[in-house]
Amino acid sequence: MKEKKQNNILELFKPYVPKAVTSRILEGKGSLPSERSEATIVFIDISGFTKLSDQLDPEKATEIINNIFAPIVGIIDKYAGSINKFLGDGLMAIFGTPFSHEDDPERAARASLEIMKSIKKNGKIKIGSKAKNLKARIGINTGFCISGEIGSDSRKEFTVIGDTVNLASRLQTNAIPGKILIGEKTFQRIKDSFTSSPPCKLKVKGKKALVSVYNLKGEKKKISFLEQKKNSHSPFMGRQKEFKVLKEALKKSYQSKGQLIEIRGELGAGKSRLILELTKESLAKKFYILSGDCSSWEESKPYAPFKEIFTKIFGIKFDDEFKEIEKKIENKIKEIDSSLLFASSYFSRLLSSKIKSLEEIMEQSKEESNLFIRVIKKLLFSFSSQKPLLIIIEDVQWIDDASVEFLVQCSKELKEFPILLIYSFRESLKKRESINGAKRIKLVPLKNTESDKLIRFLIRENDIYKLMKDKIITTANGNPLFIEEIVRGIEERRLSADKERLINYPEMFADFQIPDTVQSIARARIDLLPVGLKEILYQASVLGKYIEMNLLQKITNLEVKILFEMMKKLQKNEFIVRLEAAPQPQQYFAFTHSLIQEIAYNSLLFKTRRSLHTKIGVAMEVMYLSKIDARVEELAYHFKNSDDKEKAVFYLNKAGDKAQSLYAFSNAVNYFQDCINISETTKLEKEQLKQLSEIYNKLSFSQSIIGERKEAEVNLNKALKYCRKTKNKDNESLILMSMGNLYGDMGQWDKAIGYFQNSLLITEKLNNLKRKARIINNIGLINLFKGDTSTGYINLKESLTLCETIKAEDIYIMVLNNMGIYYDIVGEWRKALDIYKKSLSISKKNNNVIEMSNTMGNIGFAYSSLNESVQAIYYFKESIKISERIGDIYNKGINYLHLGEEYLRKDKLKELKYYIFYAEKIFEELEDKLGLADVYRLKAKMFKKIKNWKDSETFFRKSIKTYSQFGDKINEGESYYEWGDMLFIRKNKNLAKGKLLKSKKILESIGAKKYLGEIEEKLNNLKK
Ligand SMILES: Nc1ncnc2c1ncn2[C@@H]1O[C@H](COP(=O)(O)OP(=O)(O)O)[C@@H](O)[C@H]1O
Ligand SMILES: [Mg+2]
Repeated sequence: MKEKKQNNILELFKPYVPKAVTSRILEGKGSLPSERSEATIVFIDISGFTKLSDQLDPEKATEIINNIFAPIVGIIDKYAGSINKFLGDGLMAIFGTPFSHEDDPERAARASLEIMKSIKKNGKIKIGSKAKNLKARIGINTGFCISGEIGSDSRKEFTVIGDTVNLASRLQTNAIPGKILIGEKTFQRIKDSFTSSPPCKLKVKGKKALVSVYNLKGEKKKISFLEQKKNSHSPFMGRQKEFKVLKEALKKSYQSKGQLIEIRGELGAGKSRLILELTKESLAKKFYILSGDCSSWEESKPYAPFKEIFTKIFGIKFDDEFKEIEKKIENKIKEIDSSLLFASSYFSRLLSSKIKSLEEIMEQSKEESNLFIRVIKKLLFSFSSQKPLLIIIEDVQWIDDASVEFLVQCSKELKEFPILLIYSFRESLKKRESINGAKRIKLVPLKNTESDKLIRFLIRENDIYKLMKDKIITTANGNPLFIEEIVRGIEERRLSADKERLINYPEMFADFQIPDTVQSIARARIDLLPVGLKEILYQASVLGKYIEMNLLQKITNLEVKILFEMMKKLQKNEFIVRLEAAPQPQQYFAFTHSLIQEIAYNSLLFKTRRSLHTKIGVAMEVMYLSKIDARVEELAYHFKNSDDKEKAVFYLNKAGDKAQSLYAFSNAVNYFQDCINISETTKLEKEQLKQLSEIYNKLSFSQSIIGERKEAEVNLNKALKYCRKTKNKDNESLILMSMGNLYGDMGQWDKAIGYFQNSLLITEKLNNLKRKARIINNIGLINLFKGDTSTGYINLKESLTLCETIKAEDIYIMVLNNMGIYYDIVGEWRKALDIYKKSLSISKKNNNVIEMSNTMGNIGFAYSSLNESVQAIYYFKESIKISERIGDIYNKGINYLHLGEEYLRKDKLKELKYYIFYAEKIFEELEDKLGLADVYRLKAKMFKKIKNWKDSETFFRKSIKTYSQFGDKINEGESYYEWGDMLFIRKNKNLAKGKLLKSKKILESIGAKKYLGEIEEKLNNLKK
């Protein structure tokens, strides 16, 4: 009887279960083979339910279904588990087979905790006048199971069997109602993120030894550094207006109208606190909060705050191995936006620390370095479609160059995404311009009434409050940190006084002189510390804002226990706080405010400071031996400030390499420059000379990319000078090649070819074929630019053959495309097409999306020259599609222009205007002057076509101005020709002649032959 009724309820319940949850595993998969795989099994039993079910009427049954079972099913679904079967009082769920996630045990644990909560909330059942609390018992176990389909063809069931399943069931029966019991393996897999009881022993059937089991308690709270900075707060005073602006921005961002907010204010004005208050808003709970700090030692570290942010997004842990990091990145990108998978290496490079050699970086196409930042941004933005993002970057006064660039890039497109980006900085240390489009909040001093309230709260003793408040208000001048520091100072005075049983407060504070800056009061407080404690505080300050206990222990040489005792005392004095759940397994403290750290650090004698930095560096080298590359920037910082110059040079050099590998060229310049400065003060033996020459070469490369060409030239010459002293041929050939590249970039083509040829001579002797292929390709390209197309062709052909023999596919594609350009120039477009298509098939094979989209644009161009408009348009649009997918708006803009040209030729003005409009928008956003010049040139041609001479002239003039500014001779010369042609059509003979001659002069100077024939013809025509 009992049995029957119960089944009824479950029968009633089943239709409510989404099919996906019960049969997720069977979907479209045909027959699943039996396999042995790891799974996490969850048994849930609602105790008391059987007994209850006797007394239930249908209405009650429905109520139970709605309130208890439906949520359970929903929760299991949410964590991508599947319900395998319904049992007497509950059910069995599986996580991890046949479809696994890397964190199935965590998912199972999270789901179980949530189910407990849900039942606790909804499990109150009233029967008649009696209320009954339903409680669940849950068992979780992880391990290998045999899984597969069991049963006949007509009625197949997916199931898992094995010891793992049996133990899970047994754990459930042994759980106390309301508790979750987990097995050893589950515990091992989740212990970093969850809290549980100490192990208990359980006897299991068929096993002699007792097994360890644990009661799962809850999830460890993962608090960000921001939230941890303060665990006890004074009440929040004032700031209504500022807070309203923030709340408004939060609301707008939530509606996908992204916002950028800048908060500035003096040290201690309350920037961090204001942001913290915002994160407590209920709407903020709907956001994914990502915070990254900048700190003074990270001023050159590329993407410092964003590394923190992406580490969180990808769920990367401190001790993850490289392989693991890569896997996590890949999985997450798949989840967020699989079209960005091609760039997973960008992220692993960003987050692990792969270093590329200079030659490898030179090999990278310019597109790739431009794209790096865009792809990273695209992923961040795509991520916001899962959950709105609240991104917080604090202390931007110390931000690095690459991060600034990233911020600026983000700010431009933010408005279309549910993202609120807040950055804050200390006003007096500000070094950069504000970002365009940011709403600015300036934190002014608190009002006297607000200060008063704060003081009233902080000073509990009436006497002292009355006595001191006016003094505090005037001195602190509305700076909350200052107020807090004064109160702490008073508190310390009071405590020491109480000890001496001197409690006549008025007398005691009558002569209390409050120092007039927050720094001096804090320093006075530190001075009051006993010598030993003060020492610890000083030493800790060399570690930075966050104090890693392992390191502190190494440099203080104190016993761990004693050290902790001392730290606790410092914590009591509110100099430092304990970080409860640091992102890393180490124990961490942090200074309550960077003020304290700065003061302590500045109080150290230079000599002591340097020796402490050395100690820390050495300790880090030992502790992080296997992961040293990940800490290179930190080591560079410590050794740079130590007496160990050799190590300083070593790590600064490495940090520079790392920055260069991330295309953070400006950061790299800083590191290399520092490195050279130190290196040149040391004695230079042969080995050092070689290294120095290499560093100069690298420095110069980064400088040339960020536009410091003069400096780059000087430094390359130094590189060459040092190199020749060491007679290192390999290095010399590389430097000479760099020279060639630099002069090539500057348009000094003969000089460039000269250097390339010198480099080639050495390279050939060294038999470095890959480099040889590259140099010859470069020479070929320059010959094309110079207009010596036949020599260019011979060079490119030679390079191609060489690439084929050594199977250097990466260079091969590059050379192929240059060959295509050759055919383009000489007007053999069919051949150009063949070449481009060959290159396209290779990049398709290698899934090199960047090359694909470039080549497609080129193919479109060739078709366009052949007057095969349909094909041309097709390829331009394909190229645009790829660019959109990977967030490469630059290439998108270029292709918009190509499309515009195509429609201009076909007299389709409506389409033309459309593409001009969007191309202009893109280049404006990118602040790309040359791109805009191209837009103007196209506009000029459009107006020329519709015979609006005046506007046409205006835009020719505008575009030419930019071309000439940037030394872009080809476009300058061609634009003059087009302009001259326009005047020619208008029969304005004199002016036409002027422009045509100008065009001829410019084009001839670079050996470009394209329009020379037409120009000559028109000039002759004008003579008649
Ligand atoms: N409006 C406020 N009301 C009360 N306390 C505040 C307020 N603003 C800041 N504080 C407190 O003052 C101290 C310094 O503030 P913080 O936000 O860290 O300053 P900043 O980030 O500007 O250097 C913190 O302890 C903070 O809790
Ligand atoms: Mg702050």
